[in-house]
Amino acid sequence: MSKEATQNTFQEIISHCKEYGFIFPSSEIYDGLGAVYDYGPYGIELKNNIQQYWWKAMVQLNENIVGIDAAIFMHPKTWKASGHVDAFNDPLIDNKDSKKRYRADVLIEDAMAKIEEKIDKEVDKAQKKFGESFNKEMFLQTNPNVLRNKEKLNTIETRFKKALEENDLADLKQIIVDLEIACPISGSRNWTDVRQFNLMFATEVGSVADEASTIYLRPETAQGIFVNFLNVLNTSRQRIPFGIAQVGKAFRNEIVARQFIFRTREFEQMEMQFFVRPGSEMEWYNKWKEARWKWHRSLGFAEESLKFYDHLKLAHYANAAVDIQFNFPFGFKEIEGIHSRTDFDLKNHQELSGKKLQYFDPELNQSYIPYVVETSIGLNRTFLAVLCNGFKNEKLEDGSERTVLALPPFLAPVQIAVFPLVKKDGLPEKAREIFDILKWDYKVFYEEKDSIGKRYRRQDALGTPFCITVDHDTLTDNQVTIRDRDTMKQERISIERLKEVVNEKVDWKKGLR
Ligand code: GAP
Repeated sequence: MSKEATQNTFQEIISHCKEYGFIFPSSEIYDGLGAVYDYGPYGIELKNNIQQYWWKAMVQLNENIVGIDAAIFMHPKTWKASGHVDAFNDPLIDNKDSKKRYRADVLIEDAMAKIEEKIDKEVDKAQKKFGESFNKEMFLQTNPNVLRNKEKLNTIETRFKKALEENDLADLKQIIVDLEIACPISGSRNWTDVRQFNLMFATEVGSVADEASTIYLRPETAQGIFVNFLNVLNTSRQRIPFGIAQVGKAFRNEIVARQFIFRTREFEQMEMQFFVRPGSEMEWYNKWKEARWKWHRSLGFAEESLKFYDHLKLAHYANAAVDIQFNFPFGFKEIEGIHSRTDFDLKNHQELSGKKLQYFDPELNQSYIPYVVETSIGLNRTFLAVLCNGFKNEKLEDGSERTVLALPPFLAPVQIAVFPLVKKDGLPEKAREIFDILKWDYKVFYEEKDSIGKRYRRQDALGTPFCITVDHDTLTDNQVTIRDRDTMKQERISIERLKEVVNEKVDWKKGLR
């Protein structure tokens, strides 16, 4: 698909979210608030289902992972110890003509992605030209245009990495100048210097606005886990290696909040800190990389829609870090991070709080501060990936078109829609009877308005895996017509068999076994 086509599809997905009650701009009656969104009736069901699926995969299926729910407000020293007060910064640059502010690293990454696109285009062109006989590997190793662009990419990457590692803001600006990056709004290359900007939102607790009462909205949920390490250890009967999981809101004053719900200032994280013996962290890092990849694949994401991306610059707490990226309509972007955080957090909290945050290992007969491997995934980004992956405009055999959300059935906001064929002759009463049987196990939707065709289309657009129609025969033979969202095939089955047929498809366990 061309870039323009994927961009159009993305705009369609955004409109679809509004039209079908998935996502609304926040406080829309006041013209909305930049990069803040509300989840509507179907959005909240989908978001809850993703969250629960993550929780089941992490907490329910692992006897050595337990959950917590820590408060958003934390003691201000937390953020000193975690390094966020001093180092949670983004490098910013302003365009003097448009007065627009950008993240310098994102401008450079986007420029690098454009070079990668050039390579991909070259490959596509050659593939079309040579057809079956095309050898991609050979082409990538020998084509002069590809080699030149690869060389260019390598040079930029090495320099970019060094500038980030050394916090060399002057060179970050120089890379932007050398790559001739222009402001997307003004088109000019009239840039300010690059400056650091802290991303935490500060607010005041209590009525007296002095230094001591300044607190922060948490920029990650992880610290709520670290400060509770001892409480959980002492109450959960866990032994190392074990994990603590949490889902909750996080807040970052993102300068460039864009691409719909991909990057927002208020978002939700699903994080798990896995505490391990020092020295064993790389083994666990690799295990969690593999487990998390499998989880993403179980959402129906194709192998080629995902990739691992090793961090160029390690965060202040990490000794290894990788992103799992998803191929959004605007390119491959991070959806989850897996970080080996060493003993950075516990050690600093121990120092600043004066409380021993150690574990006595009976096998080694010694105490130590555990090392931590973290899996950290954005709930909203996963939501967006699931939507982008499932959104399809299909041309049907009869020439008509339909929009369908091919969501994994276990995540669908509504699992079954129940329709009486007509609004009379006792059919609504029978349909309601079936609704009442099913509502204890599934999210069911009842509708009697409009033609059956229109009702099917509406459920396709919501991603409902099954529609059940009650007709006049149902009253005598106790059978209904069940329609499958994906194949659109209709089958007549007895009411008693409904749960069996539905369960076969909506079972969340299959993808994870
Ligand atoms: N505790 C580690 C941590 O917070 P991160 O890579 O900064 O790591 C983890 O964030 C995940 O949180 C990201 O992979 C992304 O899915 C999500 N995330 C981060 N910033 C976000 C934002 N501004 N909007 C939406 N999701 C965000």
